[in-house]
Amino acid sequence: MKTLPLMKASAGTLAFMLSWGIGLSVNAQTQTLTIYSGRGEKLIAPLLEKAKKDLGMNIQVRYGDTAELAIALVEEGKNSRADLFFAQDAGALGTLEKQKLTLPISSNLLNQVDSRFRSPQGHWLGISGRARVLNYNTNLVKKAELPTSIWDLTKPNWRGKVAWAPTNGSFQSFVTAMRVLEGEPKTLQWLKAMKANQVQDYRNNTSIVEALGRGETQIGLVNNYYLANFLKDNPKFPVAPHYTNQDAGSMINIAGVAIMNSTKQKAAVEKFIGYLLNPSSQAYFAKETNEYPVVSGVAGPANQLPLSQIKTPNVNLTNLNDLPGTLELLQRAGVL
Ligand SMILES: [Fe+2]
Repeated sequence: MKTLPLMKASAGTLAFMLSWGIGLSVNAQTQTLTIYSGRGEKLIAPLLEKAKKDLGMNIQVRYGDTAELAIALVEEGKNSRADLFFAQDAGALGTLEKQKLTLPISSNLLNQVDSRFRSPQGHWLGISGRARVLNYNTNLVKKAELPTSIWDLTKPNWRGKVAWAPTNGSFQSFVTAMRVLEGEPKTLQWLKAMKANQVQDYRNNTSIVEALGRGETQIGLVNNYYLANFLKDNPKFPVAPHYTNQDAGSMINIAGVAIMNSTKQKAAVEKFIGYLLNPSSQAYFAKETNEYPVVSGVAGPANQLPLSQIKTPNVNLTNLNDLPGTLELLQRAGVL
């Protein structure tokens, strides 16, 4: 069990922080929130530091892979130390909701978020939006040739020119969305047709965008926020985004939160969620992670298509929770 040492370390840190709190703080009531975070430390630690100060709370974080943390939360159940789960995708949140491990979130918080980006049952909500997108090499592909659907990529003119990252979590969520939108047989058919069309495997989204820049591949299935970093370093980087029309290729997933039913401080957790939804935190995600804000009135990431202009498919994100089914299908198609 590789989670055990981690948990021991966290318990130790918690004990240390509690003694620190009692020793130094005049306010013996200082609350400690425990967050399980599938979002990377580099990405959100600065925001959490600010939240600690602004909210006067201690925040303990156990960082990890979203899918692995979801499994840990299921195993720990009622005994978990987690107050809040901050996941990288809606599927993991949907899994915990289905297993009845989450609490309902107050409607004053839910109502701040576009209904596409929260659970219909009200047990999770998005904090930022992440779009699936095609990136293409602008020297090698003419605009008029760009596909309108992910099915176009299975045609002979794209043979050997398309890249994907099958072990990547976002790619797998995309396949799950396709299963929900188009059904199992059609998704299997698409995966096999992509393989037959000599799709190129890459390790992750970053390596796809790099390969696109080198002209090693012409079009890649990625998330919207990777290209921004390349363009920041080199405004002439020859890669641009392109959105397909209302299929899984232009799906918007979320990174979001759920309140665990192991918490004994729901009010404090909700205060923290409210903090993540305030305009300054929402702007942080647009600026620092190039993700889309989920509350209205906050500007989106620079140099990216506004959310309102992306023709997203109509998919209930809470249904994107069958990762094992997707892995099984990817294996059946010979993709993994
Ligand atoms: Fe990513």
